[in-house]
Amino acid sequence: MKEIQIKSFAEYKKAYQASVEDPETFWENIADKFQWQKKWNKTLEWDFTKPDVKWFQGGKLNITENCLDRHLEKLGNKTAIIWEPNDPDEESRYITYRQLFVKVSHFANVLKNNGIKKGDKVCLYMPMIPELAIAMLACARIGAVHSIVFAGFSSTAIASRINDSDCKMLITANQVYRGSKPVNLKEICDEALRSTPSIETVIVYRRTVEHTPMLEGRDKFWFEELEKVERDCPAETMDAEDMLFILYTSGSTGKPKGMVHTTGGYMVGTTYTFANVFQYNHGTSKENDVYWCTADIGWITGHSYIIYGPLAAGATTVMFEGVPSYPDYGRFWEIIDKLKVTHFYTAPTAIRALAKQPIQFVEKSDLSSLKVLGSVGEPINEEAWHWYNDMIGKGNCPIVDTWWQTETGAIMISPLAGITPTRPAFATLPLPGVQPALIDEEGVEMENIHEKAEGRLAIKFPWPSMARTIYGDHQRYKEVYFSAYPNMYFTGDGAYRDATGNYRITGRVDDVVIVSGHNLGTAPIENAINEHPKVAESAVVGFPHDIKGNALYAYVILYNDVEPSEVLKDEIKAEVSKIIGPIAKPDKIQFVSSLPKTRSGKIMRRILRKIASNDTSNLGDTSTLLNPEIIDEIIDRSLV
Ligand code: PRX
Repeated sequence: MKEIQIKSFAEYKKAYQASVEDPETFWENIADKFQWQKKWNKTLEWDFTKPDVKWFQGGKLNITENCLDRHLEKLGNKTAIIWEPNDPDEESRYITYRQLFVKVSHFANVLKNNGIKKGDKVCLYMPMIPELAIAMLACARIGAVHSIVFAGFSSTAIASRINDSDCKMLITANQVYRGSKPVNLKEICDEALRSTPSIETVIVYRRTVEHTPMLEGRDKFWFEELEKVERDCPAETMDAEDMLFILYTSGSTGKPKGMVHTTGGYMVGTTYTFANVFQYNHGTSKENDVYWCTADIGWITGHSYIIYGPLAAGATTVMFEGVPSYPDYGRFWEIIDKLKVTHFYTAPTAIRALAKQPIQFVEKSDLSSLKVLGSVGEPINEEAWHWYNDMIGKGNCPIVDTWWQTETGAIMISPLAGITPTRPAFATLPLPGVQPALIDEEGVEMENIHEKAEGRLAIKFPWPSMARTIYGDHQRYKEVYFSAYPNMYFTGDGAYRDATGNYRITGRVDDVVIVSGHNLGTAPIENAINEHPKVAESAVVGFPHDIKGNALYAYVILYNDVEPSEVLKDEIKAEVSKIIGPIAKPDKIQFVSSLPKTRSGKIMRRILRKIASNDTSNLGDTSTLLNPEIIDEIIDRSLV
């Protein structure tokens, strides 16, 4: 979508200015470039106190018409998706826009034929195969709401997400290989399905020849279902504010939050940011850019920047089924070489892990096709930034360090590739339409962008792709995001701003820890640990880790008569793995006799964080503690 692309820094400044002075006109001009069945009549209505945000009200559209139908005339034969399998000896798949259009429409009829209607919720627990993209788009085609659960989560996590939004259908695959390890997805689903009364049908894609037990009447094979239905499926008419999907993210307390994204604003926001941040170029048929985002579609990055943004912009997007270490640590670089990838978007944790490997893994591949490098998910440290820049980009590829969140739907602060001057470890400047604010300890905005400042990051004005609510719990949405500062969206992140207005995100300021780019709330992990029958109480904090960015440290109190042991630690880790998933397993577990608590009974995590980070020289004020003596005991036996 060239017509929405900014082409110079001067243009960026102009667009930014315009977006602040008159946000409605700014976004109208962008939204106009999409295909609407009926134009909206009210661009924006908002009230952060409720909070209530509506974009493009009265507008009618279907996002799949924008991702598929609209491209058929000019880009029908262009590759929409290149799929790269886990096993390098298996063939890649190239799917054109026309083929994708047919496959999506065909599968949409399978959904309908199995009773799925507009507004129904469908849970997807799938490997990184094109059928995941097809299933997602098929839901959107008929107005069903997809809720994708990352296929590394446990059966308990799937069940709680299915039950939270009453999903009627579950789509999965029998099995998938990740590296050399088989993962029996259907088996995990079967476990979840014991406690998900709302699920009526399970569609199973056969990814491998492995036998899958099927429950008569409920479980159906993908291919057999396709044979029963027609290929044509007109797109359902959706309101701009109709729900497009729910995606769960961890919170600092309690159960995961089902973030709700709606149709029109999300489409406009993801496509605009994709086109501008990455500067994707359509070129002539031979010179088309090939864009690869290595995230899993189970996370927001995959939703917005593997599927919706790139496809609405008519790009060629790569989906990779495997892992960066299989068959060896050169896999990413081989894929770039093989597919002639021009845009590569990955996470700092992957960069750090790959930078630790012998450089020969990089050198054996030709990376000269690369034009733009991206980073997302956590702060990128300077060392990793330079390695990425020098060894992968060979000093020729701008790095876009993109800051955003599941809640924001689209990139918020980031350089535009080749346009915004970059600075290592800085996400740099807000995109047009994004009005950040840094808030000091008194809750006052530090407005002078020509003065260095450090504080909490909030956003002052609505943007089209923002989440509209937490599914089933609007009150929680209000409390978590709109109660810290009046009339602002609070991000939960801290940030530093230099005297030229460039932002550097410093990390979470709440009890969320970003481990290997995954957003993990400490409260649900503590709840999982406490499920172990021998555990009385626990506290989990993050500590800095060379590769993962942060890792988890758990302080655990056992019941009186229980002997601490290594076996017990393994059992506790297994409990977390079972309830949440392997990504949430603590790296270190320390048994303690009690936890430092304030007089009001709150665990003083600040101190536990310092101990876990081996930074005990200055523990700050401990006078409000009920049991200050416990600190020495914890330090003496700490595992650092
Ligand atoms: O702390 C920030 C961090 O990831 C959080 C959002 O996590 P999630 O909702 O899982 O979405 C991740 C992908 C968008 C943020 O609150 N984060 C994300 N990108 C960056 C980042 N921290 C620093 N720099 C980034 N570029």
